[in-house]
Amino acid sequence: MKKTMLFLMLIFTLVVMAACGQKDGAKEEKSTDKKVLTMATSADFAPFESRDPSGKVVGFDIDLANAIADELGYKLEIKDMKFDGLIGALQAKRVDMVLAGMSATEKRKQNVDFSTAYNHSGEMFLTKKGSSIKTIDDLKGKTVAVQLGTIQEEGAKTLQKKVDFTLKPLDNSTTLIQELVTGRVQVAYLDKSVATGYMKEQGLAGFDDPTSSSPGMAVAFPKGSNLVGDVNKALQKLEENGKLKELKDKWLKDQQ
Ligand code: ARG
Repeated sequence: MKKTMLFLMLIFTLVVMAACGQKDGAKEEKSTDKKVLTMATSADFAPFESRDPSGKVVGFDIDLANAIADELGYKLEIKDMKFDGLIGALQAKRVDMVLAGMSATEKRKQNVDFSTAYNHSGEMFLTKKGSSIKTIDDLKGKTVAVQLGTIQEEGAKTLQKKVDFTLKPLDNSTTLIQELVTGRVQVAYLDKSVATGYMKEQGLAGFDDPTSSSPGMAVAFPKGSNLVGDVNKALQKLEENGKLKELKDKWLKDQQ
């Protein structure tokens, strides 16, 4: 009798173990279904990346990253952080790639790798309508806002050697516009493809930066990442099949 009980218990345990094993296996299969690609951005830069009224991160870079992930068979996961922290996040390999309207400068290339460029934008100085600031020389004695860690922050520092103005570096790109509109700064210096949107939306004025010719925007990766080649191939495909143009028409049409 005891023996039969023991035997039955053994069978029961085996059945339960098998069932659990199966469940685990299925779960594993499911989670490896699609590999996850973690992309970081700084969602303060419409139309490239911003938050829609529901709080969702949207924009050209987001659509492009999704198209790239689709092409390569990944599921995309987005991390929103300060622009200033993006390069560090790549260096620490906390994320796989960055799409943040980031210009592929030689200086950044010392610390991260870049894909081929997917968009080109000049620089612009935004002012209020009717402002007397119309050239670089007019910046004298004024306060100019830039986003921390951007090429504009660097460019402005170089410019300060020629023209004497106060620089106000700010964390968040949208704050630049708030500061300008509320009169705390007289100028906001940023990418043209973003500035033109604000010009229309907020009735601002501005002039092109004649001093700088910035490199194109590209996807950034940790140094040595083997994703670079794959993403370049995906970008080429999206260029050839018209998807890149479609996204530019959707997001950047009146920004140029
Ligand atoms: N293109 C500039 C740079 O690379 C500014 C990019 C800012 N991007 C952002 N998502 N706030 O420095």
